[in-house]
This record gives sequence, structure tokens and C-alpha cells, in this order.
Amino acid sequence: MILDGKAVSAKIIEDLKTELARKGTTPHLAVILVGDDPASRVYVRNKKKKAEYIGIKADIFEYPADVEETVILKKIDELNENPEVTAILVQMPLPEHISKEKVICRISPEKDVDCFTPENAGRLAIGMEPYFYPATPQGVLMLLDAYGIPIEGKHAVVIGRSNIVGKPMAQMLLRRNATVTMCHSKTQNLEEIIKTADIVVSAVGKKIVRCKMVKNKPVIIDVGIYRDSNGNLTGDVEYAEVEPLAGYITPVPGGVGPMTIASLMFNIVKS
Ligand code: GUN
Repeated sequence: MILDGKAVSAKIIEDLKTELARKGTTPHLAVILVGDDPASRVYVRNKKKKAEYIGIKADIFEYPADVEETVILKKIDELNENPEVTAILVQMPLPEHISKEKVICRISPEKDVDCFTPENAGRLAIGMEPYFYPATPQGVLMLLDAYGIPIEGKHAVVIGRSNIVGKPMAQMLLRRNATVTMCHSKTQNLEEIIKTADIVVSAVGKKIVRCKMVKNKPVIIDVGIYRDSNGNLTGDVEYAEVEPLAGYITPVPGGVGPMTIASLMFNIVKS
């Protein structure tokens, strides 16, 4: 069965729009965008469009690639102090000369809708409530919950250990009482591990989940999204071969991608 992230996210977006209209409040998102990375521009434009559709005020602050780090840090201070700004997002990646760590640490945890700050990431790690959960793993859980897929006691295999997907995904699955195995590029016997999974979350960015690894009808969540040599959008899972062997599976595109944006909007409305 296909997990239709597009449909589930559309419902979440409509519910958020209704909630804001009912409350009569307007959250305010500030996005900092540095340089002219084309993918970042598309992401930021899409976030702004979706936010405004829901009734969120969204401002983008754009800087050239050679902007000084101090300018960005000062802007973050200003946004932190502005009581009208409820959510701050610094689009990654940043140019080399700007310290990602410094920038992340400067964001007020109460406005950190990405869950990038040490305060929020640390809270998540030690089982305290963060101000916000990271968008992609939260979106994955929203999708599993929308289909009533049980998590407690299940063996979840997370492939990829990034700070924004793999690590928080594992922690959030643990919080939901899954038995979690973390895999990454140096993992041995990946095939044998995936064969024992009830839930597979792949966040690697290259083809890694193949049909010979899939046994016992697992739930397959494909977080990977990139263009193949023909320019087509694709994910980590060899979809055509794996789909018949999976209990549930997310397509790429139309699976996790739209859930991530809905989940981010959920955080901004919460802010
Ligand atoms: N760049 C790629 N993914 C993300 C994300 O989730 N948040 C931000 N701020 N930048 C990104």
C-alpha cells in the first residue's frame, strides 16, 4: 500500500489554515537565505508560499554569498528580540566562510522551528520536550500515524545519521518505544539488518534499499530525494522492485517531501 504523503499533508495544511482562522492569530516566520544555491531558493520560495496560504506572515531576508558572518549574527539577534517574529529559519547550506555552528547557536530555541539549536536537539536527546521537533522526522511520524501504523515494540531500522533526519528520527522512534537500529555508510551486513526490520527509514541520498534486502512486508519510508542521471527525481529505494514486497511504502516524489513541509508549517503555527 502506498503512503500518500501528498494527500495527508494537504489535510494537515487545511487543518492548520482553519486553526489560524479560528484563533485569529498570525504567526510570523523569518527566513534567512544566503547566496544563490538554486535548490535553496526553490525550498525557501515553497515554504513562503505554503506559509502565506495558511495565514502565516513570511519574510525572506536575502544576502549575497560573500556577506560577512557578523551581519548574519546581528540579523539573528534582531529577529530573536523582535516580539512579532515567532519563527526563525536559516536555510542551509551556508557559504564556507560562515560558521554553521555559530549561526545555529545564535537562534533563540523558542523560535527554532527547525530544531537545529543545541538546546532543542539536546532536549530531544535526553527525553525532555523540545520547543519544536525537527520537521522531517516529525512528518514521517505524522504519516505513520495517519495510516494507523503501529510503532511501539517494532524493529525500526534508520539508515543515515544526519543531524536533521537520521539522528532525530532514531530518537523519536525510541520515544515511541520502537526498537531502533541505526545504520550508516560503514555499517556491515546492512542487508541482514534490513531483512529483520518492521519499519525502514532511509535518509541517505543514494540508491541503497534493494529488493533482496526486503523481507516480511516492512513499512518503507524513503526520505532520499535527488535527481538521477536522466534528471528524474528519485529516492533511496529501488521503488519498482521493492514496492510489491513492502507492506507500506512512500513514493518519491509525493511521500516524505510534502510531509516535511506540512510538519514545518505545524511548527510555525505552534510558534
Ligand atoms: N536545507 C536543507 N534542509 C533544510 C531544513 O530542513 N532546514 C533548513 N533551514 N535548511 C535546510
